Amino acid sequence: MQDLLQQAKSILEQNWRGAYTIPTSRLYPFQWNWDSGFVAIGWAHFDVARAMTELESLFSGQWENGMVPHIIFHSENEKTYFPNYDFWNANVNPGAPTKPKTSGITQPAVHGFVLEQILENHGDNADVQAFAKAIFPKIVHSHRWLYQHRDPNREGLFCILHPWESGRDNSPLWDEAMDSIEIDKAIIGEYTRRDTAVADASERPTQDQYDRYVYLLQLGKKHQYDGHELMVESPFLIQDSMMNAILIKSNESLINIGKKLGIDTAEVEEWQQQSVQSFNAKMWHDELAFYTCYDVRNDKPIAHREIGGLVPLFGQIPDNQKANILNDYLINLHENNYYLCPSFDVESPLFDSKRYWRGPIWPQMNWMIHKGLKYYNFDKTADIVRSDFLELIQKLGFYEYFESQKSQVGQLTKGYGGGNFSWTASSVIDFLRF
Ligand code: GLC
Repeated sequence: MQDLLQQAKSILEQNWRGAYTIPTSRLYPFQWNWDSGFVAIGWAHFDVARAMTELESLFSGQWENGMVPHIIFHSENEKTYFPNYDFWNANVNPGAPTKPKTSGITQPAVHGFVLEQILENHGDNADVQAFAKAIFPKIVHSHRWLYQHRDPNREGLFCILHPWESGRDNSPLWDEAMDSIEIDKAIIGEYTRRDTAVADASERPTQDQYDRYVYLLQLGKKHQYDGHELMVESPFLIQDSMMNAILIKSNESLINIGKKLGIDTAEVEEWQQQSVQSFNAKMWHDELAFYTCYDVRNDKPIAHREIGGLVPLFGQIPDNQKANILNDYLINLHENNYYLCPSFDVESPLFDSKRYWRGPIWPQMNWMIHKGLKYYNFDKTADIVRSDFLELIQKLGFYEYFESQKSQVGQLTKGYGGGNFSWTASSVIDFLRF
């Protein structure tokens, strides 16, 4: 295990670019929003200064309206990625920074809970306290933007406008909503994707899916990536279970930090109360006995069991009865020879144990779900979630994501997607330290 820890640390070192950490070289050469949060948790265990710099760099890309973009293009010379900063052209919005350049959408709001964890480990360090006080209002501002600009019906549950915002880019969750979009080829324009040149095409989204991603991007651009008209026009308008559960978790962390540091959090408490209530009322699907996403544009739940529906455990949202149901779901998968936690319902015809978010195991998801299970005292399941993940790393290396069927892993020599992956390394560090 000592060896694993050393390898993990050296991966973070390799991916460090002076002020931020890239997820992996080649495939993702910039700073990604939620990756950065998880990476800061890893750094905080052996170089807290880097953890703070990581978050500062991310927030240097925050827009005036409060949005923290999903990619910060610190290096404008890096030409191997699509869509790059020039294609996004985020400066159509006057509140987007000119340096660094950014994308025009956001990603899961992990920074509140990341900050709480850093403070827990370094609470008596004066530099960390000063850092926390400085970044706190920026995180609150990012939450305020979600509530004020992305919650059209004022339910306390915000919407995403692009699958890439969810962090679970090509999950089958989005298939129906995406397939029903009437795309206008003229709006998409000409483009060349890069991901299939650096990764196996069978592990990446199909061309048709990619066209739809680009279409939604172009629609965002048309509306300066913000504002009421964009939400009115967007054919993709979804309340994501995981994104909202993470926001709730981060709200709670901000409230806790506020108490410790003497910062008023009345505004956050108000959001929190409404969000938790609405979440349980709207996002629980009785028939599936699972938390699901809600398609606001088509006014119906997205009836699938997928990994985002387990994240409410981390947000401490379910009552004990619901938490027990979610725990049983995981135990059942374990007994049926799956590694925990597959990213999609293994019984669905849409399940694919190899392709991206359609079935494989994702490191940072295991990290969050482990914490959630611990909170509800499901220690045995939490241990499986942790040890399955560590076993996969030992067998297959520090990859982006992993095969979920135990029967398949014996024939494999490596994981899927990018190698030497930062959030994988960071999750290993946190799992081995605690
Ligand atoms: C992929 C993932 C997303 C992640 C990014 C960088 O796009 O789906 O969640 O942030 O890669 O690792």
